Amino acid sequence: MPDKLWAGRAAKDVDEVAAKLNASIGFDSRMYFEDIEGSMAHAAMLGAKGIISKADADAILEGLGKILDDIDAGALKIDETCEDIHTFIEAELTARIGEAGKRLHTARSRNDQVATDLRLYLRTKTEDVVELIKAVASVLCDRAVECKDMVMPGYTHLQRAQPVTFGHHLMAYASMLSRDVGRLEDAKGRMNESPLGACALAGTSYPTDRRMTAASLGFDGPMLNSMDAVSDRDFCVELLAALSLLMAHLSRMAEELILWSSWEFKFIELDDSFTTGSSIMPQKKNPDMAELIRGKTGRVYGDLVAMLTVLKGLPLAYNKDMQEDKEAVFDAFDTVEACLTVLAPMLKTMEPLPANMRRAASAGFINATDLADWLTGRGMPFRTAYKLVGGLVAECLASGETLESLPIEKYKSIDPIFDESLYEAIDMDNIVARRASLGAANPDSVPAQAEQVKKILGI
Ligand code: ARG
Repeated sequence: MPDKLWAGRAAKDVDEVAAKLNASIGFDSRMYFEDIEGSMAHAAMLGAKGIISKADADAILEGLGKILDDIDAGALKIDETCEDIHTFIEAELTARIGEAGKRLHTARSRNDQVATDLRLYLRTKTEDVVELIKAVASVLCDRAVECKDMVMPGYTHLQRAQPVTFGHHLMAYASMLSRDVGRLEDAKGRMNESPLGACALAGTSYPTDRRMTAASLGFDGPMLNSMDAVSDRDFCVELLAALSLLMAHLSRMAEELILWSSWEFKFIELDDSFTTGSSIMPQKKNPDMAELIRGKTGRVYGDLVAMLTVLKGLPLAYNKDMQEDKEAVFDAFDTVEACLTVLAPMLKTMEPLPANMRRAASAGFINATDLADWLTGRGMPFRTAYKLVGGLVAECLASGETLESLPIEKYKSIDPIFDESLYEAIDMDNIVARRASLGAANPDSVPAQAEQVKKILGI
């Protein structure tokens, strides 16, 4: 085990159990690339500003480059007995290049270092998740266009309400995902400022150039205030909030996939490769993946609450509590990535069952609103028409009829306003075809919606 970075003052080594609690290498080693990238930017700046010699800066850069190559190639194993990834890289560098390695930490603290690493790491992660969301949105758009004419019941209160199309229903989720991308990109924009050079909390008296390191790491610029730079974890909260809302959307979609694939609905059949069987009931086909997407939403919400709770009431500047940031964000990103990765092919392979959708839409008086609208088209006030149709529905229910099957004589006996053209008006396909208002369930609007979402997302 290499020496602690802070060895010097203490008379004794840290107790073994305390060291275990203190360590973060078990989860922060995944930031090795960003730690090296950040250190390279810092070393290059130290050399350029004459804070360390050119020769030392070059030796550091070369040494760090080799460490990165060796880790990538699997030739260098990360030593899990080190406190954290920063300790490991610096110790390894010093072991390899000697004295020059000990100069790397000039005008820097682990406090600005870890904040920098985490921003860099999460920047890439956010880009990855955005791509995965786009992949799901793209599948949704394509499937929606393919299913634009499939009439199904639209629900409110999970009661059949008005006919929509399966394509229109899928596009609702594509719209949600386009907002999720927007939220993540907003958060990424605010996150993209450099804490590097804030040092422990107060900055430094060395003639550093924070703009230079910020630019070389692709940040928009350095953070304004050194104390904020090392204390801020707003970006973690913002990303976790965006991921939580994304999971809320995915879990609503998952819930519908579960409902739709049940025998009670049977609007879709999930592909066998995205379902499981039961160990006891031979007939079972279970939508486990959709259930897990729904279930894992709770974890991501938990990560958000954990992060907010860590920050609550923390005095400035760095406190070790903040080490808890990483497990929360990493878990949320891992969870979201796993869910999105499964969702795209699951949606791609799902088989819609339009005959069942249509059958479900044919019962349940889903065309009652349109009959009322037909009456208002003949001059009857909507509220009067609503009451009249309500009475008709009650009669149908009592006599086992539907609005389509009720004979015209019956209609006429109730009100002479009725004529044969009412049947056209309450025909399911005609109903959706007439839904021509902006954003409505008209089949023709689906390709336009899909095109719009694809344009927003650049896919
Ligand atoms: N492992 C620490 C973290 O993740 C790095 C920063 C340590 N800084 C300190 N002053 N102890 O937060």
